Amino acid sequence: MIFEQLNPHACRTYLIGDEKSREAVLVDPVLEHVEDYLKTLDQRKLTLTHVIDTHTHADHISGGAALKDETSCQYVMHHKAPARCVTFHVTDGFECHLGNIPMKVISTPGHTKDSIALVMSDRILTGDVLFLDDAGAGRTDLPGGDSGEHWDSMQRVLGLPDHLIVYPAHEYRGRQPSSLKNQKLCNPNLKPRSRRAYIDYLEGLKLGPADWMKDVLKANYACARDPKAAWIPVDVPACEVKGTMAIGTNDQLVAGMPVEEIKRELDEGIPLFLLDVRDAHELIEELGHIAGVTNIPVTALAHRLDELDAYRNRTIVTICKAGGRAHTAAQILMQAGFPKVHVMMGGMTGWKKAGFPMGNPVGGA
Ligand SMILES: [Fe+2]
Repeated sequence: MIFEQLNPHACRTYLIGDEKSREAVLVDPVLEHVEDYLKTLDQRKLTLTHVIDTHTHADHISGGAALKDETSCQYVMHHKAPARCVTFHVTDGFECHLGNIPMKVISTPGHTKDSIALVMSDRILTGDVLFLDDAGAGRTDLPGGDSGEHWDSMQRVLGLPDHLIVYPAHEYRGRQPSSLKNQKLCNPNLKPRSRRAYIDYLEGLKLGPADWMKDVLKANYACARDPKAAWIPVDVPACEVKGTMAIGTNDQLVAGMPVEEIKRELDEGIPLFLLDVRDAHELIEELGHIAGVTNIPVTALAHRLDELDAYRNRTIVTICKAGGRAHTAAQILMQAGFPKVHVMMGGMTGWKKAGFPMGNPVGGA
């Protein structure tokens, strides 16, 4: 069997091929790499018979539609997938062969309604139902996501043979595939707890996907063939539970600014542009806010960048409760070409702890 992961980044695309028949399947192809996939197939003298998306993706545009156009392959997804360009719908328990390689589809809703995993004799492609090690599992706050269903799906995967090697749809930190047995030991989302406790844990985080993810979903519903159909930030572990609140892999590129320095510069009249990226209600709650801040929640920032255009050349300091969302916001700004972006280290928690003054006026940009 030929089995390879083809992408240089966190989205995983798997090539599965039968050496004898030279038939091949691509699982979770990414639109921007379609030309590379076609070259690889050509070089290996493989015929693409099917592309399979393990679910409707919210972090990248699928290459499924474009590959269907370029080849005579079938585009396979779960029967609840909304994309009209899908040509072959599968249901739970569907079994097939790629040459001599048997595969079985199991339905794994929770991350999305249309999530599936592909089970082979020695491995399982888990999509976003299960990631590796401390990456945990896919988020359940996307449209159609359901924490309880996700719990049920994980239990189902746990009931499969221990020796299966887990190949997820994303890997953000270079973790290596390992067995289900190993995941039971080291994956925090698989630690023993009740279904109710799992739901409470996820709901207690009060997360919500970034707005740009909703645009990516729309592009995939519409079978987009243009990689620019939706704006996507780089290096954000978006499909993880806390993905769009996490620091990301480029955090060394984000400059931190201590609260003391911010206070000093403000006192000296240096025109810092303070951008508080928490939800509006948080600014009037316990931690308060700094006088004169502009409030744009991190989940809306990618759509409201034009409001910051006039301040493009100012030093922008992003602020949140403790630093996580401010890092994500800083990365969005840097990706959009803002030249001087800093994160307030320690967030409003640090500002308050230092005893610095709070303010009243809060507004948009
Ligand atoms: Fe996903």
